[in-house]
Amino acid sequence: MQNIKVYITEHKERFLNELTDLLKIPSISADSAFTQDVIDTAGMVKQRLEEAGCDQVEVFETDGHPIVYAEKILAAELPTILVYGHYDVQPPDPLELWDSPPFEPIIKQTDEHPEGAIYARGASDDKGQMYMHIKGVEFMIQTGQLPCNVKFMIEGEEEVGSNSLSTFVAEHKDKLANDIILISDTGLIANDIPSITTGLRGLSYVEVEVTGPNRDLHSGLYGGAVANPINILAQMIASLHDENNHITIPGFYDSVETLSKEERAEMAKAPFDVLAYQKDLAIASVYGEKGYTTHERSSIRPTLDVNGIWGGYIGQGAKTVIASKAHAKISMRLVPNQDWKEITQRFKAHFEKMAPKGVTVKVIPHHGGQAYVTPIDTIGYQAASKAMETTFGKTPIPMRRGGSIPIVSLFEKELGSKSILMGFGLDSDAIHSPNEHFGVWNYLKGIETIPYFYSYFTQLTNTSSN
Ligand code: BES
Ligand code: MN
Ligand code: MN
Repeated sequence: MQNIKVYITEHKERFLNELTDLLKIPSISADSAFTQDVIDTAGMVKQRLEEAGCDQVEVFETDGHPIVYAEKILAAELPTILVYGHYDVQPPDPLELWDSPPFEPIIKQTDEHPEGAIYARGASDDKGQMYMHIKGVEFMIQTGQLPCNVKFMIEGEEEVGSNSLSTFVAEHKDKLANDIILISDTGLIANDIPSITTGLRGLSYVEVEVTGPNRDLHSGLYGGAVANPINILAQMIASLHDENNHITIPGFYDSVETLSKEERAEMAKAPFDVLAYQKDLAIASVYGEKGYTTHERSSIRPTLDVNGIWGGYIGQGAKTVIASKAHAKISMRLVPNQDWKEITQRFKAHFEKMAPKGVTVKVIPHHGGQAYVTPIDTIGYQAASKAMETTFGKTPIPMRRGGSIPIVSLFEKELGSKSILMGFGLDSDAIHSPNEHFGVWNYLKGIETIPYFYSYFTQLTNTSSN
């Protein structure tokens, strides 16, 4: 693959401009005010796949946001790589914390990114990382070096639970048949410490509503005599962890996969600097479940976190009031063997049972998904490892991460395929946060690495079947 570097040098400006255009469209899947922008983004992705040289490029309408499909089939006997990514993004708020508008991408140099980083919502998660694949495939098709078949499936609902894609996958198993799924929607340990994500956590996301009196009340006239839903909700939430930061929901840990001493020792070899971690977050200490390291707490252990809490008066000054209702959104990150539907039920039963007389509690389940672990003794993993070794000059470290891409376990269930999580972002990219960015170096390194994955995967498939 002599000339991928040359190709990148020649086309670098265009690669950056094209990504910039994609980032300008606010494809916020969660907010219906942006439905047309989501549709426009799907249209742009379709056009770019056609320009790259793909065939059968189609936008599939769904009950939710559209899915873009494309393929380049060379021959039935060749292996097929299915690329998955998402073109939708998280809402950009709070807007006032962005140094530049989230949908007006700009490249800025930083200490961490001397070659510049592109700042925009979706730069790293996942438009920038998804687009690397279109450019890598463009290179292979345009220079006649595509060694195998490729299919693309780019969705617009990842950030809201991939509902439409679940149906799409179940209904198009033949169309989506593949030998391996390749995804860039995760990160590296650092630009000089390459890694491949071998595990993702599952998720159960719920909303709770606590209702007390039938209306807001004067907190002097009624205070002390009726249950205050906000006080009660705060107590209920606090009781979900014990003094060791274990989760108190009965049965929550019943099916949690326990790692052997050896596996934990292996994990501990991954470089991790707790002081740098604390400094980056401006915290005096890390915090979490007793008996586990920071890396373990944030990857192989399940968690429960309040994501939002509201109710009562939050305007200027003071208003003496007992609100009728209090609300919270809660996510639980799950690990292999925990069933997200079962955990959701356990949460619901526990939360409802815990409510004192004088309030009523409603638990509204949102979305969820299973955890995923990818084995490393496979051709897919070896191909990714060799590809990164070629372009980074170092063997990547296999590493389980705490984030979730719930659809990945469904791919395995429905299509019987493993997914390779070869991401090029950094934890410091501020995904889902203000000032999200993606290093120009990372973007180009991804484009450089992807064609090697294709050639190693094809080679290894041939050798193993001979
Ligand atoms: N790309 C992320 C997940 C991710 C990021 C995994 C970095 C590992 C490392 C994905 O877009 C995401 O944000 N997923 C959501 C779940 C989804 C159902 C909203 C998450 O993890 O919160
Ligand atoms: Mn993502
Ligand atoms: Mn995301």
